[in-house]
Amino acid sequence: MAQNGKVKVAIIGSRFQGDIHASAFKLAPEDGEVVAVASPSPGNAAHLAKQYGIQRVFTDYREMLKEPDIEMITIATPNHLHAEMTIECARAGKHIVCEKPLAMTIEQGERMVHEAREHGVLLMYAEELFFTPKYVKAKEMADEGAFGRVHLVKQSEKHFGPHSPWFWDVSRSGGGALMDLGCHGIAFCYWFLGRPAIQSVYCQMGTYVHSDKTEGDDECHCILEFANGAVGIVENSWARRGGMDDRIEVYGENGVTYANLHMGNALPTYSENGYGYAVEKAPSTKGWSYPVFEELWNYGFPQEMAHFSRCARGKENPKATGEDGLIVMQAIYAGYASAGEGRKVQLPFSAKGIQKPIDLWFRGPQYSQVRKAGAPR
Ligand SMILES: NC(=O)c1ccc[n+]([C@@H]2O[C@H](COP(=O)([O-])OP(=O)(O)OC[C@H]3O[C@@H](n4cnc5c(N)ncnc54)[C@H](O)[C@@H]3O)[C@@H](O)[C@H]2O)c1
Repeated sequence: MAQNGKVKVAIIGSRFQGDIHASAFKLAPEDGEVVAVASPSPGNAAHLAKQYGIQRVFTDYREMLKEPDIEMITIATPNHLHAEMTIECARAGKHIVCEKPLAMTIEQGERMVHEAREHGVLLMYAEELFFTPKYVKAKEMADEGAFGRVHLVKQSEKHFGPHSPWFWDVSRSGGGALMDLGCHGIAFCYWFLGRPAIQSVYCQMGTYVHSDKTEGDDECHCILEFANGAVGIVENSWARRGGMDDRIEVYGENGVTYANLHMGNALPTYSENGYGYAVEKAPSTKGWSYPVFEELWNYGFPQEMAHFSRCARGKENPKATGEDGLIVMQAIYAGYASAGEGRKVQLPFSAKGIQKPIDLWFRGPQYSQVRKAGAPR
């Protein structure tokens, strides 16, 4: 494989996040370039390839892995495919960037980390919040001592639900809002605090507005206790009207900071006529809307992909790893168990033989009690 020049990257998946990956490499083109894309619907992959000038298109990602010059693969496919694809990439000797959440099960996550190590490739975890400029600024200030000892970190991501049917099907997604969005918040609190062990998780969840299309939780409130005594609060929703909302709060003995990912880089706008695009998941551009400029940059995607490319060349060490993703998976499992049992669950948490995290909610006494009472699931 090449040691100089740009890292040759291939993407598996060609829809929402595949597009973001391709766009991220275009926006930060110094370190990596996308040379191939694979997804089973030939039209979709070809469309993405045309849009971004990607030379090679595959319908079977395994064929793409045979290309000797490709050094790094980004995986932007439904959650239930992450483990199998990561393992195939590792065996083909390619560095891997795997989208969140890492896998469906803890065992799969452990296997992914193991296989990457075994084959001498990097398994990097696509948690862009570690690269989100506003959130990075908050962490830099905290690390510098701006807030004194930090005792509470909050992160929330809310919108009205995902764009593709597989997210709503828990057999392919593994769970609802906690799995899809909570993975960001858990990772964020863990990273922000300097990676202290997560000692316990408490979750309260329900299916409040989307029970017609999913068994998954469409809203979840989660409290994490860390080994350094700090608390993380993670709020997630697929039931929040009005488009995307993503924010953090940090509280320390000597200070506080707040960041709203989308505000401050948006134009408060009113339009009777509407216009093309405002921001991810905005339902309409008529009336009041908040179009964000440089959206991907504000999320941190180009910075994330450029960093991962430099890691593939040994110039930097990964800031987000498979091990981080695995810790998040354990907390998600404990979170669903907590919601099922109606109590705080201690970590380390083992869930051998459980097919998907949300099963721990379904099988808990709390779940059937809430159902019986006629309350939202
Ligand atoms: N980091 C983030 O903020 C963020 C945002 C959205 C999605 N994601 C994650 O990205 C992943 C993909 O989500 P998405 O929104 O792009 O979903 P999507 O439905 O928009 O796209 C999924 C893609 O996977 C492809 N695919 C399905 N089966 C495949 C197979 N067997 N081989 C190759 N490709 C296959 C589909 O053809 C499609 O191109 C998920 O894990 C999701 O959680 C992350």
